[in-house]
Amino acid sequence: MAIRRRIVAGNWKMNLDHAGAVALAQAVATGAHSCGDCNLILCPPSIYLEPVAQTLELTNNAGHSGVALGGQNLHDQPKGAFTGEISPTMLVDVGCTFCIVGHSERRTLFGETDSVVNTKAKAVLAAGLTPIICVGETLEERDQGRTAAVVTEQISGSLAGLSAADLAKSIIAYEPVWAIGTGKVATPEQAQEVHALIRKQLAEHADEATANQVVIQYGGSVKPENAGVLAAQPDIDGALVGGASLKAEDFLAIAEQFAHAS
Ligand code: 13P
Repeated sequence: MAIRRRIVAGNWKMNLDHAGAVALAQAVATGAHSCGDCNLILCPPSIYLEPVAQTLELTNNAGHSGVALGGQNLHDQPKGAFTGEISPTMLVDVGCTFCIVGHSERRTLFGETDSVVNTKAKAVLAAGLTPIICVGETLEERDQGRTAAVVTEQISGSLAGLSAADLAKSIIAYEPVWAIGTGKVATPEQAQEVHALIRKQLAEHADEATANQVVIQYGGSVKPENAGVLAAQPDIDGALVGGASLKAEDFLAIAEQFAHAS
């Protein structure tokens, strides 16, 4: 099996204030050395991207903490009359190297379809950023035995037209909607089954070597207490963490477990 990078990202969603965002970034940057080879990404609310970027630059004497910055969402156009929106180039400008696209909250609350997610993923890649492309089924879909069909459709719609090279630069996040913010984490077996399905689909979309390179994160109620068993699964390469990423010690403890599972 190919050795893939381990990547744990914190999706802060619409939480914290300026001081809280800076303090959290500082605490994560200060403790990041304990996470070994596991790469860390922080995705603050867009209004706090710049202070978090500055904090990550300034923390640690070396001049850079090694913790990367990501957006939570973006518009696909580089500039123009799109009131309230943020472009890929603006994210690059403030120091982002990643951006989440197609989070289930964007899909369900803001009407983002697979086609919108696909357009955004392409815009992210065109700007030289790495997209974290999210997919996942609802509880109803799982109960109806439609998990594989739903995720397969989301993957094929979200990745349409992406080349193997694009795919190799992308991260996929499997986030079952029923596990997000509910405290109900998928079992390692449930998550692994879907991750393996996604990797198989990536191999069909591109080729096996590319599929084996793609980092597939799990998201949905990841906590220090359950990260170890998830990290031990062969196709779970990292986590996209919501609630637990708002506490530096929990976020770092999750990343440490992914580092140790390598
Ligand atoms: P929780 O970790 O709070 O369940 O959120 C997961 C998530 O949506 C990360 O993007």
